[in-house]
Amino acid sequence: MTSLQVNGERLWQSLMTMAEIGATAKGGVNRQTLTDEDRRGRDLFRRWCEEAGLTVTVDRMGSMFGHRPGRDPDRPPVVLGSHLDSQPTGGKFDGALGVLAALEVIRTLNDRGVATEAPLEIVNWTNEEGVRFPPAMIASGVFAGVFDLEYGLSRTDHAGHTIGGELQRIGYAGPQKVGHRPLGALFELHIEQGPILEAEDRRIGVVTGGQGTRWYDCEVIGAESHAGPTPMEARRDALRATAELLGEIYAIAQAHAPDGRATVGELRAFPGSRNTVPGRVAFTVDMRHPDGGVMDAMDHALREAFERARGRAPALEFHLHEIWYAPPVAFDAACIAAVRDATLALGLSAREIVSGAGHDAVYMARVVPTAMIFVPCKDGISHNEAEYASPEACADGANVLLHAVLARAAA
Ligand code: GLV
Ligand code: MN
Ligand code: MN
Repeated sequence: MTSLQVNGERLWQSLMTMAEIGATAKGGVNRQTLTDEDRRGRDLFRRWCEEAGLTVTVDRMGSMFGHRPGRDPDRPPVVLGSHLDSQPTGGKFDGALGVLAALEVIRTLNDRGVATEAPLEIVNWTNEEGVRFPPAMIASGVFAGVFDLEYGLSRTDHAGHTIGGELQRIGYAGPQKVGHRPLGALFELHIEQGPILEAEDRRIGVVTGGQGTRWYDCEVIGAESHAGPTPMEARRDALRATAELLGEIYAIAQAHAPDGRATVGELRAFPGSRNTVPGRVAFTVDMRHPDGGVMDAMDHALREAFERARGRAPALEFHLHEIWYAPPVAFDAACIAAVRDATLALGLSAREIVSGAGHDAVYMARVVPTAMIFVPCKDGISHNEAEYASPEACADGANVLLHAVLARAAA
């Protein structure tokens, strides 16, 4: 069966065409969820699905499903896909590869007249990135029962828009109930977004699970005052106190090296005037580790760091609010084996790997047997406009996806 291979050229063309939507000057993509660019990406994906003979449905969280019947309509579908939303300075491959490789699998099966026993369903999940509407992976989270629908629809961006409102605005507030239906298996292809596969010259990562992620919203409150006359010791400078705290936050990841991670990706000082001492700072913290026990130890250490900050500066307020925890997850042994077997049959070098990034597959693994496939990306760079995966790497991943899905949907 390994003579059956995807059309790598067609996959590449689809990736490049999708990347024109939200294209940035530096060669990346800004297609943040539920923006007009996201709508245009969704419209294109819907058209391509329909041209491939798929029946497209949209659920109430706006996730899009393209259904291809199987010989046995009573079997639950095997699902493959990822997300089309991007970071503000994102690349062409994060998410889009998994969605468009899923489409390429369908096109290949159509070309060769291959039917499967189980139906196949390709998916574009809403708001995987969580950049505009935290938390990440929210639509797959609602599908998997981690969040309820009302929570999902009411998430709000900095401008006060909600997911529910923006879904209505762009015409993707679908009628389909979210989740509550059986699925047979789920496979997600993704770029690695890290350096390991490239460094070891492996073509495929057989993903055995994902590390844990915790997100926090933090706020330090002091008082605004004049940048000139106010003596340094008389200030209640929220940014200066934050600066001291940041060093302690990075030290928590360092204390759990090499796997610990701490990132402060958003920081806003108010009122944002160069000659006013900032009276308020709002910032985010993202902490990760593959071990749930260590994740809890890192959480404890962060709370202690905030306590120390309060001790150092009793005239200021320090608020720490955990908004999201996605614990480490192990993928399904049989689905991992299907990926490994496909890799072997295709003669591709591989290694097992734990995902450092979050993915919809992480939540879906709670309700359906799931595994992921990684391909290398240049210099391990992702969440960056320079993100790049070669046409060969994309085709390798799509071929592994094809054969893992076939093994699961035919058996
Ligand atoms: C998703 O991209 C994440 O890992 O934060
Ligand atoms: Mn992604
Ligand atoms: Mn991402």
